[in-house]
Amino acid sequence: MGKTLIYYFTGTGNSLHIADRLKVLIGDCELIPILSYDDTTIIHNDGATQIGFVFPIYMTTLPVPMRRFIKRLAISEQVYLFALATRIGTTHSAFNEINSILKRQNKKLDLQWSFNMPSNDPKFDFKSLTEDQMKALENKWELELESICLKILEQKPFLVKDSTANRKVPFVNVLRFMLSTMGSKPQKMYSDLNCIGCGKCERVCPSRRIEMIQGRPVWPEDKECYRCSACLNFCEMQASQISGMTENNGRYAHPFATIEQIISQRDPRNE
Ligand SMILES: Cc1cc2nc3c(=O)[nH]c(=O)nc-3n(C[C@H](O)[C@H](O)[C@H](O)COP(=O)(O)O)c2cc1C
Repeated sequence: MGKTLIYYFTGTGNSLHIADRLKVLIGDCELIPILSYDDTTIIHNDGATQIGFVFPIYMTTLPVPMRRFIKRLAISEQVYLFALATRIGTTHSAFNEINSILKRQNKKLDLQWSFNMPSNDPKFDFKSLTEDQMKALENKWELELESICLKILEQKPFLVKDSTANRKVPFVNVLRFMLSTMGSKPQKMYSDLNCIGCGKCERVCPSRRIEMIQGRPVWPEDKECYRCSACLNFCEMQASQISGMTENNGRYAHPFATIEQIISQRDPRNE
């Protein structure tokens, strides 16, 4: 078995954690943040025998930057392809969408799996998990990771029905077309009176939407938002808000994720 390349995107560290664990379990494996490529680069992956995509589910499908990236990826022959999604638990159409992109190169996924992880979406009234609940989830995804890694190492096909979804979304493939068109439309954001003007939200934003104006963050309406929630969840003052939706809710980032790791996804790749 040759080298494994894992292309990842993360807003708050859940997907990065899965990618990190894969690297440890698989061995000869390189993690590459998709944001380290600029939009015009044509990417070739010569040399890898396994290629994986790791990403969160947003609104039942792929994050916008991951969709764009896969469209730009030129994949050589005889490569084993896998996709690992992290989500809170809804059914989704991300794997179908990836396959419809790969079809243009006569390829399809060999393995797909979704890990149920804590929610990073403060729009809804999510309850912070207790330590016991977090531990139980962790134990579950660790077991799943071990079994997934074995399959990747043996290049086994694994495209079973999504049995771990805890909420079925009806007509998910139809929804995908509707939602993907509004996937990068900006949400109405502001910083409340707790904002100390530290600029972390500006630095962590993967789509570079946020601007600091007179010491306060501004989210221009005409700039793209990937909806990753990093600006909301990494604000230590809980001052970043989506109007009328997040003011009374908690925040979440993966316990091992640092803001520097999220920011460094944007560092240009030296090849
Ligand atoms: C805007 C938004 C939409 C989301 N939509 C879904 C969804 O449709 N289904 C789901 O199961 N999880 C959904 N989630 C939860 C995330 O997929 C989940 O928490 C993920 O593990 C976050 O990964 P990250 O920490 O790598 O960014 C959504 C999160 C956000 C911020």
